[in-house]
Amino acid sequence: MINIAVSSQKGGVGKTTVAINLAHAFARAGVRTLLVDADPQGSVGLSLTRQSRLLTGFYDYLQDPGIALDRLIVPTRLETFSLVASGQASDYEAAGGMGAHLARVRTFLRGVEARGFDLCLIDTAAGLFGVTGDVITSSDAVMIPQQAEPLGIRSVPKLLEGLSRLRIMNPRLTVLGVCLTMVQHELAESAEAAAALRQLLPPEMVFRTQIPRDGLFVRASARGLPVGVLEDGAGAQAVFDALRLEIEAKLEPPRGAFG
Ligand SMILES: Nc1ncnc2c1ncn2[C@@H]1O[C@H](COP(=O)(O)OP(=O)(O)OP(=O)(O)O)[C@@H](O)[C@H]1O
Ligand SMILES: [Mg+2]
Repeated sequence: MINIAVSSQKGGVGKTTVAINLAHAFARAGVRTLLVDADPQGSVGLSLTRQSRLLTGFYDYLQDPGIALDRLIVPTRLETFSLVASGQASDYEAAGGMGAHLARVRTFLRGVEARGFDLCLIDTAAGLFGVTGDVITSSDAVMIPQQAEPLGIRSVPKLLEGLSRLRIMNPRLTVLGVCLTMVQHELAESAEAAAALRQLLPPEMVFRTQIPRDGLFVRASARGLPVGVLEDGAGAQAVFDALRLEIEAKLEPPRGAFG
């Protein structure tokens, strides 16, 4: 199993949107995919499962690893796609020091792997501390959504500095790169932000695929669905299929787990 964290220092950059739709793209391609909501605010859960607040989830498990994993894993209509909601996160859990939950996060991931998933995609809260830090430290790879606007781009060097710290803690971590989100092709500022990002980072650190700003994403999440499920969602879904292919290419070799 490969596990990929979707993380950023900044909030509201499109992490949850990317995580949901990318997970769906992998699942549609036949990859047995588990999407884990590791944001204590529970946004994947809110978006994809009704009454997710009532579901036993990731944070419940961190507090009580005696909970059977099968109680956490929620199937969807797509056989290859399952979810774990965030559950009840106390403030303590969310803010706990780095490393405090490492052993439990790892036990969780081993348990998921034992259940036959090929991919575990983890949506994290903004920031690289606390449980998010422990998730990244336990992950094979991380991808970083970044909103295509000038202020957002200025935070990228800081993010990479943070990630290089995490790579010291987890030398196996593959930084898949930064994915531009909410791109408005008609806006000069959006194109300038993309160009600035490409100047700041080595070329392989910026995904070729860009996620356009599209009201479909807002509509899909209001209905609790990935965009690909909407009648007019094929175009938006295709963007995530392209992102999936880029990620597969980055992960193999040596990790050819996607077959
Ligand atoms: N490509 C897009 N086009 C239009 N709206 C988008 C797009 N991506 C995200 N949004 C909207 O922007 C808002 C923030 O997106 P999202 O929740 O995915 O960000 P996030 O990084 O997960 O935020 P947080 O840090 O709070 O977890 C949401 O209302 C979402 O619907
Ligand atoms: Mg989110």
